[in-house]
Amino acid sequence: MASNRNLLVLPGDGIGPEVMNEVRKIIAWMGKKRAVGFDITEDLVGGAALDKHGVPLSDDAMKTALEADAVLFGSVGGPKWDTADFSKKPERGLLRLRKEMDLFANLRPAKVFDALVDASSLKPEIVKGLDIMIIRELTSGVYFGEPRGRHVNAAGEVEAFDTQRYTAPEIRRVCAVAFELARKRKNKVLSSEKANVMHTGVLWREEATKLHKEKYSDVKLEHMYADALAMQLLRAPKEFDVIVTDNLFGDILSDEASMLTGSLGLLPSASLGAPDATGRRKALYEPIHGSAPDIAGKGLANPIAQTLSYAMMLRYSFDLGKDADMVETAVENVLKAGYRTGDLLVGNTDGVKKVGTQEMGDAIVKELDRLS
Ligand code: NAD
Ligand code: IPM
Ligand code: MN
Repeated sequence: MASNRNLLVLPGDGIGPEVMNEVRKIIAWMGKKRAVGFDITEDLVGGAALDKHGVPLSDDAMKTALEADAVLFGSVGGPKWDTADFSKKPERGLLRLRKEMDLFANLRPAKVFDALVDASSLKPEIVKGLDIMIIRELTSGVYFGEPRGRHVNAAGEVEAFDTQRYTAPEIRRVCAVAFELARKRKNKVLSSEKANVMHTGVLWREEATKLHKEKYSDVKLEHMYADALAMQLLRAPKEFDVIVTDNLFGDILSDEASMLTGSLGLLPSASLGAPDATGRRKALYEPIHGSAPDIAGKGLANPIAQTLSYAMMLRYSFDLGKDADMVETAVENVLKAGYRTGDLLVGNTDGVKKVGTQEMGDAIVKELDRLS
């Protein structure tokens, strides 16, 4: 790999390869029309890697990911591998990437496009103009805490256990990302945990408060229990700006937030590591949705979450904000023009054009052409 735009593409399973194909068209367009080129390596992850190599991520692919300037990830998992041994489940491939690349900050923006206000399950006045950023801690908490496993306990019962564990530095570093980002937005952070019942919640609240006092007192900080936040996100989502929370709460709350925008098929994410001496971060860009086995292989998946993940990559890894804006504008305009994949066919569908994955991808590329 010679250039400074080495990209590893990991399409994965289910709809992953389908939506990634549409992003490939945009990558090709960007190379031709905007001179935004990449040296691309492709590899397997998830069930696809398990079938070929017997593991959900090969050591070779892991090494390539660690050396790449960015990783573009599709999705993993599916019924075919549901019975795989726990350590070999497709999802372990993604978890290994996050852990070994130390991608502790997962940025999950949820934005409501004006054209999709009716696709939301909430009333238009509740969601119109919504623009929030959920920052999910991604390399610790109950996803990784030890001990974890299953055994037969002293009473002879089968017992399974996971451990929710956080260190103070792990909490501080993800909260710092939230404060920094809030300064570029509405200067407001909501930190969420369950300090009323969990030791990790108490520590989380203490560390967020300390860090705020030491370095970020110009930013408004509030705290809310995660269950109450789940409710408030549906009652009045526009009251929030940046939300920072742990690995599991962040996973759940971001799926919930996707329905404010209309579909899980719309939400991108950036998983970021700490900046090195030159300011570069390891990074992986992944839609928040999964492999959608119910629609996989049918050409029905919405490629927008994957497309917007690519746009986040342009912005966060390669400082190509203008090109990222262009991709985002193209997506917005295509929605304005009425293009809808099946997941967006809710509410008022007068005048919409029902399309599949490829037609949506083609419409976005055509719009990029028009914009350039
Ligand atoms: P899912 O996100 O795959 O699907 C949930 C629902 O949303 C389904 O009805 C699906 O059809 C729909 N959906 C998701 N993405 C869509 C898109 N782009 N366009 C249109 N509709 C879309 O979640 P699930 O069904 O709970 O999980 C399926 C598999 O995916 C599991 O193996 C799970 O572990 C895995 N998963 C992987 C990731 C990832 O790779 N990042 C994320 C979540 C789930
Ligand atoms: C996500 C997914 C993953 C998670 C799974 C596939 C490991 O649900 O990225 O939101 O739980 O983090
Ligand atoms: Mn999830």
